Amino acid sequence: MQRVAEQEVMDDWENVEAYANADFSVAHNEVISRYQNTFQHLLNPAKVLDLGCGAADIAIRFSQTSPRSQIDAVDASAPMLAYAEQAVRIAGLSQKIKLYESMLPDCHWPTQIYDLIISNSLLHHMTHAEDFWQVIKTIAHAQTHIFVVDLCRPDSLEQAAALTQQHMADAPEILQQDFYNSLLAAYTLDEVKDQLDAFNWTHFHVEKYSDRHMMIAGRICP
Ligand SMILES: C[S@@+](CC[C@H](N)C(=O)[O-])C[C@H]1O[C@@H](n2cnc3c(N)ncnc32)[C@H](O)[C@@H]1O
Repeated sequence: MQRVAEQEVMDDWENVEAYANADFSVAHNEVISRYQNTFQHLLNPAKVLDLGCGAADIAIRFSQTSPRSQIDAVDASAPMLAYAEQAVRIAGLSQKIKLYESMLPDCHWPTQIYDLIISNSLLHHMTHAEDFWQVIKTIAHAQTHIFVVDLCRPDSLEQAAALTQQHMADAPEILQQDFYNSLLAAYTLDEVKDQLDAFNWTHFHVEKYSDRHMMIAGRICP
C-alpha cells in the first residue's frame, strides 16, 4: 500500500486536546521498558533529547524511571507544548524537563551534547523522513544513543481499518481517525532500513515488535 502523508504538525486544538487527554500508558510504558532492555548500560543518561515530544508523556515517563536525566523536549506545535508544560508541572518535573518549540529540521533550542536521542511517533509525521535523520546526524556525537519508536504501515487499507478497530474501538472518534491516518502515513520496516542506509547506519537495530510498532536503536558509531 502506498504511503498517504498526514498533517505534519499537530496544532489543531480539538485534535491536540483529544491526544493530550488520551491514555497511552500501555504503549508508552512499553516504549520505556524496551528502551531499558535495549540500553541496559544507560539507564540514567545525563542529557536526553526527545524529538516530537507532543504532550510530554514519554518525557515524563522517562524522567520518572531515570531520575538523574536532564531532558530537552522539542515539538513544533504550540498547543501540544501548552499541554506538555501543564503535564510537566503537575508531575513536578519542571527542573528535569525543558520544553522548546521548534519545527524540525530547524533546531531552535540550545542544543547540547546528548547521551540519548529518543523519539516516539514523530517519524511518520515528517514530510521528508530524511529531515528527521539529518537532525539526528547534526546533533548527535559518536557515542550518542538513538532510540526511535514509530508505527509500521500495514499492507492494506483493510488492515489499517482492522488495527484501528482492534486497538482504538473505545477511543473518541477523533483519535480513531488520527490513528488510522497515522497508520497510512507510517513507513514500512524496509523503507526505514533504506532511510538508515542513506546515512550509513546499517548497524542500527530495526525491529517490528507488535502488530503496529517498530523500534530503531543504535549508536552513531557502533
Ligand atoms: C503523534 S505525536 C507524538 C507525540 C509524543 N512523542 C508521544 O509519543 O506522545 C507527533 C508529534 O510530532 C510533532 N511534529 C510533527 N512534525 C514535527 C516537526 N517537523 N518538528 C517538530 N515536531 C513535529 C507534532 O506536532 C506532534 O506533537
